[in-house]
Amino acid sequence: MGVSPQHIAIIMDGNGRWATRRGLPRAAGHRKGGEAVRRVVDGCIARGIPWLTLYAFSTENWGRPPEEVQGLMRMLNRFLQQTLPEMMQKGIQLRAIGELDMLPISCRNRLNSCLEKTKHNKNLVLTLALSYGSRQEITRAAQHLAVMVAEGRLTPSDITSDLFASQLDTAGMPDPDLLIRTSGEMRLSNYLLWQLSYAELWVTPVLWPDFGEEELDAALEDYAGRHRRYGKR
Ligand code: IPE
Ligand code: IPE
Ligand code: MG
Repeated sequence: MGVSPQHIAIIMDGNGRWATRRGLPRAAGHRKGGEAVRRVVDGCIARGIPWLTLYAFSTENWGRPPEEVQGLMRMLNRFLQQTLPEMMQKGIQLRAIGELDMLPISCRNRLNSCLEKTKHNKNLVLTLALSYGSRQEITRAAQHLAVMVAEGRLTPSDITSDLFASQLDTAGMPDPDLLIRTSGEMRLSNYLLWQLSYAELWVTPVLWPDFGEEELDAALEDYAGRHRRYGKR
């Protein structure tokens, strides 16, 4: 048995298909997806994995029909409200990455309060990617650095990859070791493009609402057998 990943990133995909296959509205799939979030969070804590980053809503997802977007925002609000006591009890530190200013004010307030209340928890850092797009994040980082250069606080040669990473939303976090994507799609969909440079990829046809400990263990077992070479021999 090899080592286990310290940081898992997940593209939680397939809620819509899960619902459609059952003749249910897409919202039912998103609701079931919320239950899978709980299972995977508990699974990570039980297995001593300290970092989990979940793609919950992409920049591009704003382009979905307004009723689906509103439904997802309502669910986010409810999820945060309902799980805060659990997060405190289980020692979960909540973080968020993405353009959080784009979220409805009620979600933002709820989120900020959860971030503040859980910030000293130590068992698991749970990061939600919300209104998140990696190209947008990288572009923002470049803008910050350009401002610093323009103001004379930095010279172009000061910009190293570490300095660049310190301007990303994930500053201070380790890069993900393992990326899991559910429902079979073989693409990154604008997720953590910088941070996933050397992550091991694991894709399952299982739809996100059906994801549980069995799939998590299958991914971990596969990961344990990987040889991460980082370009070396
Ligand atoms: C993932 O499920 C959840 C979000 C993107 C918010 P989808 O809603 O993308 O489900 P599919 O891909 O249509 O099945
Ligand atoms: C990626 O899933 C975004 C999230 C899981 C939040 P999508 O369903 O939006 O991605 P595409 O459209 O299949 O690339
Ligand atoms: Mg999808």
